[in-house]
Amino acid sequence: MDIIYQRRSIRKYLDKPVEKEKLVEIIRAGMAAPSSENEQPWFFMVIDDKDILHKIPEFTWSAPVLKKSPCAILVCADVTYAKDPEDFWWVQDCAAATQNMLLEIEDQGLGGVWIGIHPEKDFVDGVKHLLNLPEQVVPFSLISLGYKGKIKEPTDRYYEERVYYNKWGEEY
Ligand SMILES: Cc1cc2nc3c(=O)[nH]c(=O)nc-3n(C[C@H](O)[C@H](O)[C@H](O)COP(=O)(O)O)c2cc1C
Repeated sequence: MDIIYQRRSIRKYLDKPVEKEKLVEIIRAGMAAPSSENEQPWFFMVIDDKDILHKIPEFTWSAPVLKKSPCAILVCADVTYAKDPEDFWWVQDCAAATQNMLLEIEDQGLGGVWIGIHPEKDFVDGVKHLLNLPEQVVPFSLISLGYKGKIKEPTDRYYEERVYYNKWGEEY
């Protein structure tokens, strides 16, 4: 699938808003992800308020991109949807949703980048407070996105020395 290799982290955007129809399709792709026991614990928040976007890098040092993003989508989980909230399967569910969304972003002709929020406590607490998330909702990632202001080459990171056959150390 070409789109897998074409997807790169894009942190520079044109000054052009992303249409709501595209954002809905991106979130639909997120909700199509596999989840443990099909629990689908995820919720999504579209953020295009510049005051909010500009505040996030004040406590999430790895997110300066949000100072120039037209919008971002928060991926979060309501842990009460999990049979055992302590088991942390929701983390993998949200990661699968985030990757699906990045692929859909590329397919829509847009560019995006995954900004990790969970498990960095300061990031999680800051996002929860800023966006009024209820106690049981944990922010997992933010996806910054927009029309690409930079084109990157596709990647191929296949390393055959990382692949074994039946037993560790056996060449495939
Ligand atoms: C779990 C996770 C957290 C990430 N967090 C950030 C981040 O906070 N800020 C950022 O600019 N990029 C972040 N990235 C993007 C990575 O830096 C990027 O995927 C990696 O350098 C590979 O580049 P590529 O996406 O262009 O293939 C994150 C990626 C993952 C998977």
